[in-house]
Amino acid sequence: MNDCETVIDIQDMEFRWQTSGPLTLAIHRFQVSGGERLFIKGASGSGKSTLLNLLGGVMTPQRGEIRVLGQTINRLRGAERDRFRADHVGFIFQMFNLIPYLSVMENVLLPLHFSRNRYLRVTQRGTPVQEAARLLSHLDLDGEEIQQREVTALSVGQQQRVAAARALIGSPEIVIADEPTSSLDSDRREAFIKLLIHECELAGTTLLFVSHDSSLESAFDRSVALGQINGAVPTSTTGMKGV
Ligand SMILES: Nc1ncnc2c1ncn2[C@@H]1O[C@H](COP(=O)(O)OP(=O)(O)OP(=O)(O)O)[C@@H](O)[C@H]1O
Ligand SMILES: [Mg+2]
Repeated sequence: MNDCETVIDIQDMEFRWQTSGPLTLAIHRFQVSGGERLFIKGASGSGKSTLLNLLGGVMTPQRGEIRVLGQTINRLRGAERDRFRADHVGFIFQMFNLIPYLSVMENVLLPLHFSRNRYLRVTQRGTPVQEAARLLSHLDLDGEEIQQREVTALSVGQQQRVAAARALIGSPEIVIADEPTSSLDSDRREAFIKLLIHECELAGTTLLFVSHDSSLESAFDRSVALGQINGAVPTSTTGMKGV
């Protein structure tokens, strides 16, 4: 993927949760370049998670176009969108969504069961287990003992790094992180972001990182306030404007 190539391009997009309800998002134009590390900020309820779900093809807008890696994903059928997401997008959720009865290693390997592309990319370099172990080590989860542990036996900060390794395995072109640091103290937050950005740099991955916390934005190439790109007036942000 060439840097500077547009990997995300939203045009005249409108989304509302209910057909006759208020507009949640109205975005005339929003573009992200390949390899860019973008910080997206905004008040609670301003639509950050909604935007990320639209970009990941979890939901579709009522109007407009969302092009990801040249594909107009809102024109794909449900199963095709699921496949597209599995192949090209790694998600890190706020609550991590790790599978509790699986080990650290098994959680990290999971995306390779859903995406043959990501599996093949990994096996060009070695075995899936070797690649998962490499990522976990880079994210400071070194050693077989911790990698074989059930994820419920980890601290929150450790679980967060497992979620990051799972999003990164098989080098998806885009990694989307939805406030993954909100439960960490500020030292751990900065360390995690450094590790995540470093991994994305190594693989040329485009990173979209959402947070309320403006103190983190200096680590990123660019920062966007949702309120700047969203023409819809928020209805439930109790007077807080998108920061
Ligand atoms: N499943 C849903 N059904 C209906 N409305 C929803 C749903 N999820 C979110 N909304 C509404 O859409 C708007 C945007 O919500 P969203 O979750 O995208 O905000 P956010 O910016 O991610 O907030 P936070 O910072 O608190 O995570 C809010 O008004 C919210 O009430
Ligand atoms: Mg949210």
